[in-house]
Amino acid sequence: MTGPDRRHLVLVGMMGVGKSTVGRAVAAQLHRPLFDSDEMIEARVGRTVREIWLDDGEPAFRALETDVLREALELDEPSVIAAAGGVVLGEANRTLLTSSDAHVVWLRADVDVLVERVRNGPHRPLLDDDPEGTLRRLYDERAPRYQEVADAIVSVDHRTVNDVTKAVLRCCA
Ligand code: S3P
Repeated sequence: MTGPDRRHLVLVGMMGVGKSTVGRAVAAQLHRPLFDSDEMIEARVGRTVREIWLDDGEPAFRALETDVLREALELDEPSVIAAAGGVVLGEANRTLLTSSDAHVVWLRADVDVLVERVRNGPHRPLLDDDPEGTLRRLYDERAPRYQEVADAIVSVDHRTVNDVTKAVLRCCA
């Protein structure tokens, strides 16, 4: 008989794909805590993502992202981790994700769907100017990297949060 799966479940994917929303629902179903990498960074530094980004620059933000990803993956308690969209940019992060035994799920959406859904919002300085063009460019750059780290891919196109949640739970069962 096997015991409960103790592996972390990590959600990756583009801004606006629904990592936090689906993460909350999946965490509730699994009775696990949810860790959101942007929130971990804000809690650690005591400033918002936008403040860090504008005052210290993107490289400083990306270094914090690596720290909190490592921290989250080292947690003893099996958790759901919503990793921010840019987490796959750094090779160190991709290595952390592929070498850990976490289930990594890429929540994937067509760029047209992302363009419809995404809002720039306070924690997304990258989308302040030309959000559509930026999303298209980022998607092309990042899709192969999400693919590289993912154990499973779940499409969110034309699906409710409930359906996506079920699909994520199924692929990690
Ligand atoms: C970013 C995604 C954001 C936030 C920052 C940079 C990115 O998080 O970390 O604005 O590079 O994709 P979400 O994916 O939670 O929106």
